[in-house]
Amino acid sequence: MPAGEHEFVVVANRLPVDITVAADGSLSWERSPGGLVTALAPIMQKNDGAWVGWSGQAGFEHEPFDGEGMRLWPVTLSEDEIEAYYEGFSNGTLWPLYHDVIVPPEFHRAWWNTYVSVNRRFAAAAAEAAAPGGTVWVHDYQLQLVPSVLRLLRPDVKIGFFNHIPFPPLEIFTQLPWRRQVVEGLLGADLVGFQRPGDAANFLRAVRRLTGLRVQGPQVTVPGRWSRPDRTVRAQAFPISIDAASFDELARTPEVLARAKEIRKELGSPDVLLLGVDRLDYTKGIRHRLKAFGELLEDGQLRVPEACMIQVASPSRERVEQYRQLRDEVEVTVGRINGDFGTLGRAAVHYMHHSYPMEEMAALYRAADVMLVTSLRDGMNLVAKEYVAARSDLGGALVLSEFTGAADELTQALQINPHDIDGTKATIMRAIGMDAREGRRRMRSLRRRVLEHDVQRWADDFLGYLAMSVPSPMSVPSP
Ligand code: F6P
Repeated sequence: MPAGEHEFVVVANRLPVDITVAADGSLSWERSPGGLVTALAPIMQKNDGAWVGWSGQAGFEHEPFDGEGMRLWPVTLSEDEIEAYYEGFSNGTLWPLYHDVIVPPEFHRAWWNTYVSVNRRFAAAAAEAAAPGGTVWVHDYQLQLVPSVLRLLRPDVKIGFFNHIPFPPLEIFTQLPWRRQVVEGLLGADLVGFQRPGDAANFLRAVRRLTGLRVQGPQVTVPGRWSRPDRTVRAQAFPISIDAASFDELARTPEVLARAKEIRKELGSPDVLLLGVDRLDYTKGIRHRLKAFGELLEDGQLRVPEACMIQVASPSRERVEQYRQLRDEVEVTVGRINGDFGTLGRAAVHYMHHSYPMEEMAALYRAADVMLVTSLRDGMNLVAKEYVAARSDLGGALVLSEFTGAADELTQALQINPHDIDGTKATIMRAIGMDAREGRRRMRSLRRRVLEHDVQRWADDFLGYLAMSVPSPMSVPSP
């Protein structure tokens, strides 16, 4: 396949922009919020980068174009493909399977077939974009077959893959009828990155069991085909982070600080403000959190209006049935808690089903006394890191589920098992009553970790390892 011109190519399910098409067919776009694009933008600019991804709209077809200092390379998906590849196989099969089967994954052959063909399309676009000997970085569970397809098309490029969500234990992963194909897909990469060491270990165990290949420490030896030499694939943890310095800076601005004060005032100046911020997803443990808070009100350990909670639940995957059901359940629960414990003009739970700009998020973080992250399983959880980055005043307390990737790093958070409602209630009360000195000590240590290990360092680490990976077969002289 003829090579392209981009030294560095990112392949992700979504493009890093939200595109609007005007009536005359002209395009405009806005950079979507998120750490990944912030971290990669400077690398893109330096290396003439391209970003291959879906626009988020059905049938959107456009030539690659320049924007945000890179070449944006849209991959077209039809309405049927979105249903089968994105809502179906990615979010109805892999997402629940990789998150401890919190809801039952569905296995449909038609979804798998579309996942294969869409992955091939992404790989073909990356193959067209990448310069000879260039670097391609593939992201996440929607694109696990891209590395092996791309390697066949372009054996000269270096391929990295990063999985943003957990990689499940073998006992769960092997439920997948196409488990071997997925593992072989990932083994097309030179470097496979995961959030936690446990995820990398799960993957290596799956490789050993399902392919019989030689695994030594973090390395897998893949025998060369068609007289090419053997290759080594490395699997290792690279915990992702946020653009911590920018977030820290934003949360110190007079506007954000004034808004934080205003938020508390609008809520009736409560003594205790609890906060939850999540995509509305069943992995986030929103119902468990509401249950714990509801019981604290019922037991009389907390009372409205002295205490209240804000729950921001941003809309997500709204056409997937499990997400619709979750929304109904959360909204019924919020209604019940407010009905039982709210007073005229003072709600117990302020529930917001929309997303907010970063400035408002920073103000919410600054306003909250206790941040509740209660995920039942979470690859990393960047909200926990944002909260910490926002608290330059060393105030606030973080209650953090031990089932998040962040728990490995944020050891000074008050950690909980969200399934243990009594334990969660006790920890929330401990966070509320925590001595200010202990709170500051914990927050200082959390901040050190988050500010030192930011998303830039994450990208540099990953790309540093990828650059050191064995040269790809074409550049190695044949024996
Ligand atoms: O890693 C999980 C992830 O795919 C993120 O990349 C993304 O921000 C989030 O889930 C939401 O995903 P979606 O693209 O399905 O809205």
